[in-house]
Amino acid sequence: MKVEKIPVMQTQSNLQNYDEAYANFDWAEVEKEFSWYETGKVNMAYEAIDRHLLTPRKDKIALQFINDTREESYSYAQLSELSNKFGNVLRKLGIVKGDRVFVFMPRTPELYVSVLGTLKVGAIVGPLFEAFMEAAVRDRLEDSEAVAIVTTAALLPRVPVNELPALKHVIVFGSEEELAEGLISYEKEMAEASSDLEIQWVDREDGLILHYTSGSTGKPKGVLHVHNAMIQHLQTGKWILDFQEDDIFWCTADPGWVTGTSYGIFSPWLNGVTMVVRGGRFSPENWYSTIEKYKVTVWYSAPTSFRMLMGAGDEVVKQFDLSSLRHVLSVGEPLNPEVVYWGLRTLNQRIHDNWWMTETGGQLISNYRCMEIKPGSMGKPFPGIHATIIDDQGNELPPNRMGNLAIRTGWPAMMRKIWNNPAKYQEYFNFPGWYVSGDSAYRDEEGYFWFQGRIDDVINTSGERVGPFEVESKLVEHPAVAEAGVIGKPDPVRGEIVKAFISLRAGYEPSDELMDEIRKFVREGLAAHAAPREIEFRDKLPKTRSGKIMRRVLKAWELGLPTGDLSTLED
Ligand code: WTA
Repeated sequence: MKVEKIPVMQTQSNLQNYDEAYANFDWAEVEKEFSWYETGKVNMAYEAIDRHLLTPRKDKIALQFINDTREESYSYAQLSELSNKFGNVLRKLGIVKGDRVFVFMPRTPELYVSVLGTLKVGAIVGPLFEAFMEAAVRDRLEDSEAVAIVTTAALLPRVPVNELPALKHVIVFGSEEELAEGLISYEKEMAEASSDLEIQWVDREDGLILHYTSGSTGKPKGVLHVHNAMIQHLQTGKWILDFQEDDIFWCTADPGWVTGTSYGIFSPWLNGVTMVVRGGRFSPENWYSTIEKYKVTVWYSAPTSFRMLMGAGDEVVKQFDLSSLRHVLSVGEPLNPEVVYWGLRTLNQRIHDNWWMTETGGQLISNYRCMEIKPGSMGKPFPGIHATIIDDQGNELPPNRMGNLAIRTGWPAMMRKIWNNPAKYQEYFNFPGWYVSGDSAYRDEEGYFWFQGRIDDVINTSGERVGPFEVESKLVEHPAVAEAGVIGKPDPVRGEIVKAFISLRAGYEPSDELMDEIRKFVREGLAAHAAPREIEFRDKLPKTRSGKIMRRVLKAWELGLPTGDLSTLED
């Protein structure tokens, strides 16, 4: 297939020559950029924030925040001081290195202060997406035995405080009333806390962050990253996001997901740029005006968002001055060529796709400013990363053959464990020396990688990973549901939507009301993004003789494809 390439638009970028960099790169060189290279004292929060206080970046804006009711900016010095205070709040509670502290808040400055303060006392931060409902919150706190959670008055009802024996401290922001006995006021503690803090130094291999993510079976798994990941966060920020001193960077991802921490906290601040955070809901007007108002230069978003902007029409985009943009990037799901052409036409920018996962901790494959883009391709491996395609026996495949996208183990930001589940961790490394991603892809003769799909049943809806098992488990808790099978159904805007096939218990009849009720049940019990947008009632679901629902058959039904080998089907 002949693909039209989009030429390099601007020559000025940190990375000038990809091939040369790839050939000569050494992660050990990047280590020299950190203060711990001299001092031996390691802490992500120190490198991301405090270190800049010794430089002219001290009074530069680190965080520019906006939502529907607040607009505030914080310098590096101010973030340092506030996170010191929050570190003291935690220390007073007896929180020490290695403890798990969860942050369950909408995007507000307090979220960022809480994350940084947690890291400063050496605790491991567990970010939770604000849309999570009680069951999702409980699963994650239970599995990680979190000792503390920072949340808001509005989200507090979703934290089952009395059902979590390990959870000792609940810190609440934004309560207008006196807090109930046993709860701690964020504002009150912060007002009393000292802004002098002795940072807890850690080892590079000590725990940094625990991101829960979904697989196709079982409950969400806790992917643990360590402070060492900063090496990759710094360098990918330089060469992929192309951070320059005066950049105004906007990453649209929520810190509940890995993009919102690796590239919505660590990478930009390690690189000392100004970061814009927009809270509140998506709307094309809000988004475009964010770029216009703060003169965003580097913008990192996701295909679903670009498709929604594209769907809003060129009339909307024309009302805004987006000329500050100089670099646009995308992650999380396949970026259709159509969107790339839309970007060229309306933003006058190439959209640079890149690929990585929660488990990989940082970007691994990308399009670079200095490189031609083939629309539809994820690009080429980052220097220092050996990516390839292997077959099901672990043999490397030649170009243009589809197989398992695999990475040579040992990059700096690679996950270090799956919390409480060494067997699950091991599943990624069944072929010695390789991390197997679970994505299928191929590589062309020029070394560009092309995404093909997931190998397992994980659903990617609007760039958010949804595990079908979690949704199915919730569905069968509903009194009307006998059995449920959940799949991703292709969708032009969201990539995929969650679709549930349901068989009802005796005495229940399919109806639109029941459908709405079941959808609401998942939305309120688990999370809005996990609730099935489509529900189809069936008398019977296809099952194996051992009783497992065959999602593959459901998917074939949905797509009108042959159902394949049904020899293990129950009847
Ligand atoms: C998918 C998000 C196509 C992929 C950082 C991967 C992509 C999963 C791309 C990880 C891309 C991510 N093109 N698919 N550029 N980037 N994916 O853990 O299936 O939320 O395995 O990490 O998203 O999603 P996760």
